Amino acid sequence: MKTWIQEEYKNRISAESVNDSQVGKQLFFAGWAFRFRDQGGVIFIDLRDRSGIIQIVARKELLGEAFSAAEKVRSEYVIAVSGKLSLRDADSVNPKMKTGKYEVIVEKLEILNASKTPPFALDEFDPSGEEVRLKYRYLDMRREELKDRLILRHKLTFALREYLDSKSFLEIETPILNKSTPEGARDFLVPSRLNQGQFYALPQSPQLFKQILMVGGMERYFQIVKCFRDEDLRADRQPEFTQLDMEFAFVSEDDIRREIEEMWKFSLKKVFGLEIPTPFATMPYHVAMEEYGSDKPDIRFGMKLVNVSEIVKTCDFQVFSGAIATGGVVKAICVPGGSVISRKEIEDLTAWLSRDFRAKGLAYMKHGSAGLESTITKRFTPEALEAISKAVGSKEGDMVFFGADSTKIVNASLGALRLKLSDKYDPPKSEYSFHWVVDFPMFEVDETTKSWTFLHHPFTSPKEEDWDLLRDWKAGKSVDLSKISAKAYDLVLNGAEIGGGSIRIHNAEIQSLVLEAIGIDKESANEKFGFLLEALSFGAPPHGGIAFGVDRIMMILTKSQSIRDVIAFPKTQKGTCMMSEAPGFVEAKQLEELKLRVVTI
Ligand code: AMO
Ligand code: AMP
Repeated sequence: MKTWIQEEYKNRISAESVNDSQVGKQLFFAGWAFRFRDQGGVIFIDLRDRSGIIQIVARKELLGEAFSAAEKVRSEYVIAVSGKLSLRDADSVNPKMKTGKYEVIVEKLEILNASKTPPFALDEFDPSGEEVRLKYRYLDMRREELKDRLILRHKLTFALREYLDSKSFLEIETPILNKSTPEGARDFLVPSRLNQGQFYALPQSPQLFKQILMVGGMERYFQIVKCFRDEDLRADRQPEFTQLDMEFAFVSEDDIRREIEEMWKFSLKKVFGLEIPTPFATMPYHVAMEEYGSDKPDIRFGMKLVNVSEIVKTCDFQVFSGAIATGGVVKAICVPGGSVISRKEIEDLTAWLSRDFRAKGLAYMKHGSAGLESTITKRFTPEALEAISKAVGSKEGDMVFFGADSTKIVNASLGALRLKLSDKYDPPKSEYSFHWVVDFPMFEVDETTKSWTFLHHPFTSPKEEDWDLLRDWKAGKSVDLSKISAKAYDLVLNGAEIGGGSIRIHNAEIQSLVLEAIGIDKESANEKFGFLLEALSFGAPPHGGIAFGVDRIMMILTKSQSIRDVIAFPKTQKGTCMMSEAPGFVEAKQLEELKLRVVTI
């Protein structure tokens, strides 16, 4: 038998949808009891649903016996209410609530479910730490902060789909149980029961499949898809994360970039009301590294790295001249108004740079009334000091910091210092800044193996003008592989890499040269991704693509501190889920079926 509530579900309206035209009407609400006040004979309850909050008022004089249900309501009880929408008296209007001028005078109220007392308050003032909120994620989700981010995330992916559909992209799913994708991270492996001793690798991205979709004539593909990478986690990294993955046939680098700019312009305007100027600025990789010490520079503020090696190479200060003599560099940044930075602060910064970036020190000079001054300035000629000041653009009240070491260490440490000091001394001049980093090198030397590896992935095309360098290398001529440029591009937003892609190789000769250059011989190439190489030999169209980190973009646009804040069920830094307690041990029977034995080494 149906109760009155079941009959009413179809008439349910959301709390924040009430309006003046409904005043005096009988309405039905269902949701959670957020706050309640019992004033003896009158009970006020803030009923909360996904849309927001509305105040309901239960009066004993109206409800008689039925009032006892209202008296039993506690925090987070699930309730159904039928009542008349009324305007509150002028003096009890709450301007802080969207529905603050209304109240619902209860005629029927039923408790649909009780709730244990929540381990933290669901209001905006609750100071509980992240751990408890991750454990009870379903309660945290009832709070406005997380709920609003999840709604925005839905709106963003919806707008992206709308845009891409209008531009003839097809959303096509690709396998999750897969072979390893060479994106440069560690794989998550899944043992196969039907093929003993063999493993699937969860995809680090759909890279190989999307290229094959192009060979298959799909022309324009996208997918909003989970990717899996077993890497060390940071504030903007998750072991499983979501990509907006795309691939296009018959396009140039420029075509892809213009299409992507329009896509973000449309979606961010629609969802966040942002007007983002297009086309986005473009910066070559070597400029990013030289001037910002990073391949994903935050260009919303200055404090650029300035190479002062030429000026200081003959100075008396061994730290500088020695670094240059051994093939390193000396770079400086000028911190506006930074002369107030204390010795103690500099010591702390030095310790941090030495710990995290292997910097050997952090030399500094204050720009005082007589120019640059510090304990080390006596080792420099007045002309050199003048030249340094001019190169970095320092003026009285500024502080100049120096890094002297290998280019890699100097870039990493001064690049990080620049980011750290920005808020206080040179805050960003705009809220959002999108820009492309282009002209990446194709290859770099891997620090641990000391052999050549790829910067993007091995299917990225070298620039046509560099193909002969590869051929020369193959012919045994002496070629510096780091001079070969890739048709790759990253999209950077506020100093975070939000996307990366490239024009792919569709030519078998170049593909095998690239694989050979990074030490993958024919046999292992065939074993690893022979299916792609074979597909490329059946009339592959010229193609290229890009993938964006949806979580990262949401994190930046919602100004969240952590990538976890924009994911419904995120993992901790240790890769665990506080709620489900994954990962976990499995039953002996499951291992037996897989013919596996766990031996801890
Ligand atoms: P890439 O490896 O650059 O390219 O990844 C694309 C984007 O995905 C995001 N991202 C992550 N986000 C959260 N957690 C992670 N662990 C994580 N790793 C990457 C970043 C990054 O820019 N197949 C190529 C794309 C292509 O060539 O088309 C790829 O996956 O925002
Ligand atoms: P020292 O002569 O080692 O006492 O160093 C003098 C100053 O140079 C200190 O401020 C150090 O922090 C700084 N310093 C030392 N090594 C480096 C380096 N490799 N790069 C930048 N500054 C350095």
